[in-house]
Amino acid sequence: MTKGETVELLLHDVALEHSAIVQYLYHIFLIGNKELTEDIETIVRQEMRHMKWFAQKVVQLGGEVVLDRVEEAIKVGDSVSEMLQSDVDAEQHAIEVYSQQLELVKDDSVKRLLERVINDESQHREEFAELLEEAKHLKEEEGESVVPDEDTVKLLNKMLKEEYRIIVDYLYQFFHSKDCNYKDIMLDLAIESMVHMGWLGETIGEMGGMPQIEADLSPPKRSSFVEKVSEGIAFEERSKEAYLKEAKSIKDPKIRKLLEFIEKQEDYHKQKLLEFFNTMRRLTVGDLRKDK
Ligand SMILES: [Fe+2]
Ligand SMILES: [Fe+2]
Ligand SMILES: [Fe+2]
Repeated sequence: MTKGETVELLLHDVALEHSAIVQYLYHIFLIGNKELTEDIETIVRQEMRHMKWFAQKVVQLGGEVVLDRVEEAIKVGDSVSEMLQSDVDAEQHAIEVYSQQLELVKDDSVKRLLERVINDESQHREEFAELLEEAKHLKEEEGESVVPDEDTVKLLNKMLKEEYRIIVDYLYQFFHSKDCNYKDIMLDLAIESMVHMGWLGETIGEMGGMPQIEADLSPPKRSSFVEKVSEGIAFEERSKEAYLKEAKSIKDPKIRKLLEFIEKQEDYHKQKLLEFFNTMRRLTVGDLRKDK
């Protein structure tokens, strides 16, 4: 198996982990029961690490990361049992795929990674099977069939989509940037944006709405480092403005408070990027002086 083929295989794994993350997030948002969702959240965090590890291997082998998904692998489901069954199936599928790859791959560090991940997925499969049993004993909450406020759901979904897009964008930069400080900021902001996405999705679910975890996943346009940082600052500024504006239009005090809270964090994101931008410019100007 050539290096290029190993990269292809790892990119499929990135996509498969990404799909699992999306599927489990749907389930967290749609299953109201905290006892069940807390355990799924722990699993999602681990799938995020898997995705990161596979992507980092792609970079180490000289490949370009693509944050695709395997769309047909994402199963939402109607009832809690159906959802958890599809989660058991997703873990089983991952175990099969990674085990086959383990036979094919020659690179030792990739082999070790696959073994580690297979071990995690086996654990997850057991955990989901237990949750499924638990769910059967829990009374399926009689759907009081609240009619969701569609306008608010639409608005929150629009924001969720924006968060998803920026997570993808920051992750692309995290994987490919060579500047350690910048990498650190990118990962930090991606994680905080994931938390925002989580709050928005949960709120939509609580309202009885359907979250939409969809976004343009294509790699960002190639641009210079300075341009990238400036784009980030502009994005955070727009995002902050949007949260502030929408918070004013929301009647529900709980949702309004949430949007205001996120707005403050977006402001912090902007400050953080600005700080980096200024340090970077100072250094560049310093270098130019030295050259003279
Ligand atoms: Fe995984
Ligand atoms: Fe898993
Ligand atoms: Fe942000």
